[in-house]
Amino acid sequence: MIDHPDIAPVTGWIGDQDYFVFREYDHFAPEPVLDVLHGHVAGVVFRDAVPVEVCAEIAARFWDSPHRLTRGTEAPGYYLGAYTWHKPTAQYLDESEQVNPILDDLLDVEGDPMKVFYAGLSTALAREGAIVRPAEQDGRVASRALLRSWHGGGEFALNPHDDYSQCADPQMADFERRGVLQRSVVALNICLENDLGGRLAYWNIQPDAGSKSRLGLSVTGSPYPPASLVDHETKYIEVNTGDIYVFNGAHVHAVEPNTDNTRTRTRTRTTLAAMMGFIDDHTVVTWS
Ligand SMILES: [Fe+2]
Repeated sequence: MIDHPDIAPVTGWIGDQDYFVFREYDHFAPEPVLDVLHGHVAGVVFRDAVPVEVCAEIAARFWDSPHRLTRGTEAPGYYLGAYTWHKPTAQYLDESEQVNPILDDLLDVEGDPMKVFYAGLSTALAREGAIVRPAEQDGRVASRALLRSWHGGGEFALNPHDDYSQCADPQMADFERRGVLQRSVVALNICLENDLGGRLAYWNIQPDAGSKSRLGLSVTGSPYPPASLVDHETKYIEVNTGDIYVFNGAHVHAVEPNTDNTRTRTRTRTTLAAMMGFIDDHTVVTWS
């Protein structure tokens, strides 16, 4: 039980022990991603799936890019790519339109891991008559990826949050992505560098509407006070350079901080990321 009198525990959907696992593989295979997309399992990690030299090249391009931006206090860090959080659809699509050519250039490397991932996923989805493509609206498409490096200085580098709530943001009610709300909202992360720790913390709880409303997180999904989560089982997933990990983003999750305070927090945990989900039985859309 929690000892904080002001913060009630978050309640919601809790997966059983068969579901609440991160399956591990020593190479990339698309079929397990389908299990996450279909809600059969919480997550999957493909260890050493991307060659280190490919990761190093993309990370170097990210840090050297004049288009790399700083993100504010709600999620301090650097990023390149458009993100949907707390934004109207038109703004997101404007930003996506601007950044997609930059991402195309940046990811134009031999063995682009996004290309490899989606090629594999497309093949696997085709067997069940489904496709994967960027989310669209009026002929405009979502940002193909988001590169980011978190370095919040508190208990977490990225605060506990869920990726589902923002899909219900009324500012984006007209965005095709909204179709995922009845299904699994899935996060794709490719670890480009992580030399000083920074595990993924992942709680076995998909918060219900009442809990979100009580905490004022109905459309932001962030941040959940740690005291509201202590009743729930937590998994800590180590991620290393070259790992691809895919998980159900409706569960509360966070990024642990860098453990070495003697070194700068920059350039320590950089990921290439996207979100995805089925919007109907035959279509998986991606956004960032
Ligand atoms: Fe997330």
